Amino acid sequence: MKSLTFNPQASTSNPHAAVVEVQNLVYAYSRQEPVLQDISFTLNSGDRVALMGATGSGKSTLLENLIGLKQPQSGKIWINGIHVEPKTLPQVRRYIGFAFQDANDQLFMPTILEDITFGPRNYGVPPAVAIDRARQLLADFGLEAYANRSAHELSGGQRRLAALAAILALEPTILILDEPTNGLDPAWRRHLAQVLLKLPVQMMLIASHELQWLGKVTQRALVLSGGRIPIDGQIQPLLQEGKTLDQLGLPVDW
Ligand SMILES: Nc1ncnc2c1ncn2[C@@H]1O[C@H](COP(=O)(O)OP(=O)(O)O)[C@@H](O)[C@H]1O
Ligand SMILES: [Mg+2]
Repeated sequence: MKSLTFNPQASTSNPHAAVVEVQNLVYAYSRQEPVLQDISFTLNSGDRVALMGATGSGKSTLLENLIGLKQPQSGKIWINGIHVEPKTLPQVRRYIGFAFQDANDQLFMPTILEDITFGPRNYGVPPAVAIDRARQLLADFGLEAYANRSAHELSGGQRRLAALAAILALEPTILILDEPTNGLDPAWRRHLAQVLLKLPVQMMLIASHELQWLGKVTQRALVLSGGRIPIDGQIQPLLQEGKTLDQLGLPVDW
């Protein structure tokens, strides 16, 4: 007799083992026209992807759908083959480091050091190891001197770097960043690009309207416009297409 094995994930697993798979996603805020009208794309291991689009095009809304903070009206999302739905969120979020557009949403402990050790300690990392990791990250982001200060004693740019350190402390395999350069001066924008290029993550998706910076950090671009993704391709040739970008609300030279 043939033996039957029960696989509890069989009904939710995606046969295509992409890192992120989005199929026909539709999302509307209550009583409004959908912001995301029909979104489909696949992100694979090794991809560094820019999510471009004018202010209000739905970049943050799309990222929040990916990590399950918002529930789409229709369509499906898989992360590492797991269908994103309320019951799979704890599992899905273990892979993902997500930086909110507003870093204040991410820092809530009395000191920055505690903010950065909070996640790892929650996952059972021994305190001494968590503190070592946090101090290394603080050094990477030039924040050693601020370890014992609270987030509201930092500048906007420093808060952004501290929030990123708190995310990286969890050693995510998928990194999703929403406008990570907000509040950073050119020197820190360059430094952040260098840090991101060295990270050993499996896949990175970065929403930003800073096209030249995205060109340094990512290889592929998704452009969000009119609730759809009219462009999905290599970023460098796209950055030369000034006219196309202008029509999509992303002027390069002005
Ligand atoms: N909480 C909300 N309620 C209603 N509409 C919203 C809300 N948040 C965002 N929107 C609208 O959704 C659209 C997309 O917003 P958002 O995803 O923040 O765009 P982006 O990140 O590209 O600037 C905008 O038109 C915005 O006004
Ligand atoms: Mg946004």
